[in-house]
Amino acid sequence: MEQRTCLAIVLAAGEGTRMRSSLPKVLHAIGGRPLIAHVLSAAVEAGGADIAVVVGPGRDDVAVAARKLAPRAKVFEQRERLGTAHAVLAARVAIERKTDGKLADDILVMFADTPLVRPETLRLLRDALAKGAGVAVLGFTPKDPGGYGRLVMQGDELVSIREEKDASPAERAIGFCNGGLMALAGTHALTILDRIGNANSKGEYYLTDAVAIARDMGLKAVAIETEEDDVRGINTKAQLAETEAVLQSRLRGAAMDAGVTLVAPETVFLSSDTKLGRDVTIEPNVVFGPGVTVEDGAVIRSFSHLEGAHVGKGARVGPFARLRPGAKLGTDVHIGNFVEVKQATIEAGAKANHLAYIGDARVGEGANVGAGVITCNYDGTDKHRTDIGKGAFIGTNSSLVAPVTIGDRAYIGSGSVVTKDVPADALALERSEQVIKEGWAARLREVKELRKKKQKKTD
Ligand code: UD1
Ligand code: MG
Repeated sequence: MEQRTCLAIVLAAGEGTRMRSSLPKVLHAIGGRPLIAHVLSAAVEAGGADIAVVVGPGRDDVAVAARKLAPRAKVFEQRERLGTAHAVLAARVAIERKTDGKLADDILVMFADTPLVRPETLRLLRDALAKGAGVAVLGFTPKDPGGYGRLVMQGDELVSIREEKDASPAERAIGFCNGGLMALAGTHALTILDRIGNANSKGEYYLTDAVAIARDMGLKAVAIETEEDDVRGINTKAQLAETEAVLQSRLRGAAMDAGVTLVAPETVFLSSDTKLGRDVTIEPNVVFGPGVTVEDGAVIRSFSHLEGAHVGKGARVGPFARLRPGAKLGTDVHIGNFVEVKQATIEAGAKANHLAYIGDARVGEGANVGAGVITCNYDGTDKHRTDIGKGAFIGTNSSLVAPVTIGDRAYIGSGSVVTKDVPADALALERSEQVIKEGWAARLREVKELRKKKQKKTD
């Protein structure tokens, strides 16, 4: 099976009108990445070495996204939307292409708006081809079969697929439905596809007709039963949210299976690429945007938001922490409440426990960043770096005006606005000297009392 070659054709030419959005449907995201990205990665994981993406006319945005996600993907334009078989044939050049004089063994047709299909499900379709089927489709039994093509079975053989609009009452009574995705034997695919006509109620070229045509050619067609979630398609924002919920529950389950403690799983939002080590604990209400890795034993406390960040072993983050892209926390780092870290490396054992902004910076090993410390990284046009040495102590409410370097073990007095580099082991103090006026407050109160009494007399 692994020896067989595979071309995956991803149909992404849908208009997505029902999303009521200026963003193309397949670029909407679930699990922190576009729908089409889920489909492309399932295709690659299922062995789709060659990928063709079919986009609608003028959809350069989808083409650009597809190439970025799968650099080897070839993009084809379907100029008119004349049906699923017509869309597949937009990639004719890819289907005809021979590698070492040979057509692809397996052709997988996938829908870019059906993002939850699992690689193992696709492999079952490919297995069916390896066992000699000419066409293999995904079947499922939805609660409400309305709108789906019906699978007409004879024993364990698939005889035909009947689109609902063209089905007889008896065919409509069938509960076993077409999930849409399909695998075709590469050597027969073009012959089958070219024979598909559009004599049906919608006047479209239906990919589903491939089944009856294959059988007519003496080939075998089979249906592989799968869960509804695998073939869940997205047409509306409500379906986008439902699909996100299914994906989140898969991701949470996988995290827990891998040894992560989720105290209240249903309140934790993960991205498809979130990497969580063993014995990581995630408290309730934490959100992971794309690109986060958390190493073993770290604790992410409630109401934290992480994106593009690396959290080292045994580190503690939150509650109410925000790690933005480029935040790299070393082993045993503590980032506490209302601390924001962006493009900054916080080395092992360093702490910023409350109310701080650390951006475009390095915080050296074991350094302590006090409450209210701000790295002033932006001068209105450019970003500048702050470098804090090992074991340095940054007193509360200090502003570090970048570019600035604080030497190892240096000490910044609270409330300082630091604009010059501070040498190692030095103290930097920038604040006006404190003035003491003995008895001043008591005298103020006396004056105020006297004024009040006078006022009462005159009233
Ligand atoms: C299709 C199946 C139906 C199945 C259902 C599962 C056909 C004829 N019917 O119906 O049996 O039960 O999926 O959801 O295949 N597309 C193009 N170009 C086109 C037409 C479609 O790229 O000209 C793309 C769409 O963007 C979509 C996919 O193909 O991603 C499926 O098309 P859609 O119109 O949703 O087909 P269904 O009517 O849902
Ligand atoms: Mg559909």
